[in-house]
Amino acid sequence: MVKIKNKVAIQKMKNSGKMLASLFDQLSSLIVIGMTTADIDRWIEKQLEQKGMVSQTKGYYGYRHVSCIAVNDEVVHGVPHDRSVLKNGDIVKVDVCASFKGYCADMARPFLLGDVSPEAMKLVSVAQVALDKGISQAIVENRLGDISSAVQYEVEKNGFGIVRDFAGHGIGSSMHEAPNIPNYGIAGKGLKLMAGMAFAIEPMITQGSYKVKIDKQDGWTVRTADGLLAAHVEDTVLVLDDGPFITTRNV
Ligand code: MF3
Ligand code: CO
Repeated sequence: MVKIKNKVAIQKMKNSGKMLASLFDQLSSLIVIGMTTADIDRWIEKQLEQKGMVSQTKGYYGYRHVSCIAVNDEVVHGVPHDRSVLKNGDIVKVDVCASFKGYCADMARPFLLGDVSPEAMKLVSVAQVALDKGISQAIVENRLGDISSAVQYEVEKNGFGIVRDFAGHGIGSSMHEAPNIPNYGIAGKGLKLMAGMAFAIEPMITQGSYKVKIDKQDGWTVRTADGLLAAHVEDTVLVLDDGPFITTRNV
């Protein structure tokens, strides 16, 4: 069942989104070459605590961190680690889901370290544009497939791959709610969108094949099967009568 948020819930979603967005604002100056992904996770944990926000990933099926940090060929669910030292040219995708007063915000952004290849920069910017195109379809009376196909079209037009095995999701008092929001699909098909729905839209895109594999050791980290680069961006979006409202952007 897809939950419709009332006025109070919508305001709470806006509040948690704004708070998470300001945390990400600070991340861009925090993340530098030489630090580890575990350093970033610890910093985020402190920030969430200070803000009174509750991590939705720590304790989730035994996951032990407040963020997922995926570097280069890692697509999503990268596990922060003391041995994972960031270096020149890395693309670092940080994903955080946290709640404030019972309502969640889910957000991911890529951070580019030092001299990043033009191809990596293009991959990241196409992911960002694809997300924006998807979000622009999150309007009342549209169908879920309008969001999915807008993302897919933008990515494939640029010659990149769309990951099939993972998707965006409804969000609210829980991190994951119905519906599932694939990043590929057919315009005009699927669930009809209504005011008060809330979605985490998150294109996961690849430089080469869209096939991915899960790390056998940690059971979490998702990597491209061919070892090529991946990008991931995510925003939390409310479907409102006057159009999509992105809770996780402060602009
Ligand atoms: N923020 C991630 C999402 O978009 C949550 C990953 S769940 C984890 O769904 F526990 F694996 F981290
Ligand atoms: Co998500």
